[in-house]
Amino acid sequence: MQIIDGKTLSAKVKEQIKKETDSLIQAGIKPGLAVILVGEDKASQTYVASKEKACISANINSIMHRLGENTSESELLALINVLNLDDSVDGILVQLPLPKHIDTDKILKAIRADKDVDGFHALNVGKLASGLDAFVPCTPLGVMVMLKEYGIDLSGLNAVVVGRSNIVGKPMANLLLNANATVTITHSRTKNLAEICKGADLLVAAIGKPNFITADMVKENAIVIDVGINRLDDGRLVGDVDFQAVKQKASFITPVPGGVGPMTIAMLLSNTLKSAKERANRLGLKI
Ligand code: GUN
Repeated sequence: MQIIDGKTLSAKVKEQIKKETDSLIQAGIKPGLAVILVGEDKASQTYVASKEKACISANINSIMHRLGENTSESELLALINVLNLDDSVDGILVQLPLPKHIDTDKILKAIRADKDVDGFHALNVGKLASGLDAFVPCTPLGVMVMLKEYGIDLSGLNAVVVGRSNIVGKPMANLLLNANATVTITHSRTKNLAEICKGADLLVAAIGKPNFITADMVKENAIVIDVGINRLDDGRLVGDVDFQAVKQKASFITPVPGGVGPMTIAMLLSNTLKSAKERANRLGLKI
């Protein structure tokens, strides 16, 4: 059994990104990421602070907008429009969830697709589903980078994704399909879930329920990817997979913390760099 070490891999990826950022800066372009946080959600505040820190370490310009809980939808749309038109901004990220009085779909649609480093705009979702070059959501993209780094060939594997969110489950399934896996998406209403999971050569858990995937649901030598981050009442952080039991059966497994989590921010930097390179190309700069 091999533990897939997301902490070490993300550090390596971030180092590579910094090198490429520095050559862009030499050529006259400083990559910029605008992050908008609306309201006081504690988890979102933590995520946004980590994103800002990661940008600074990679020499990416971090443009933070912290807006009050009572910000109106039209105020938020106006800010997005300003950022859409600002050439120094390569990526725009609106931290989710948004307060209830704001229509999330309307906001995500307003972000210019070529600055949509989260990959949530319908144009990028459609491009990914069509196998075209697109901004891909950071968490599933991070999973693909991990699988590649560990030499895992997905072609022909039975992949089961547990969870159908727009942020993880659906894009994950599309990425695996594009990599020639045979993909099953399961969710809270799926019948015989345990049985379906047991048929998986690659199992991706993205349900948001602590220790939901137990050893009896996992095939011998399966590759197990845990996207869950659940805070227990005693403060411990655990994934969606019962790690201690499942690791006895898996050929590869990601831990929580230190697995998929650290890759997500590395991919956000990577998507921002991709956008900045496209800006450099448009300007005809040699990198
Ligand atoms: N909230 C939880 N995950 C994410 C993410 O990947 N991007 C954004 N914008 N908000 C989130």
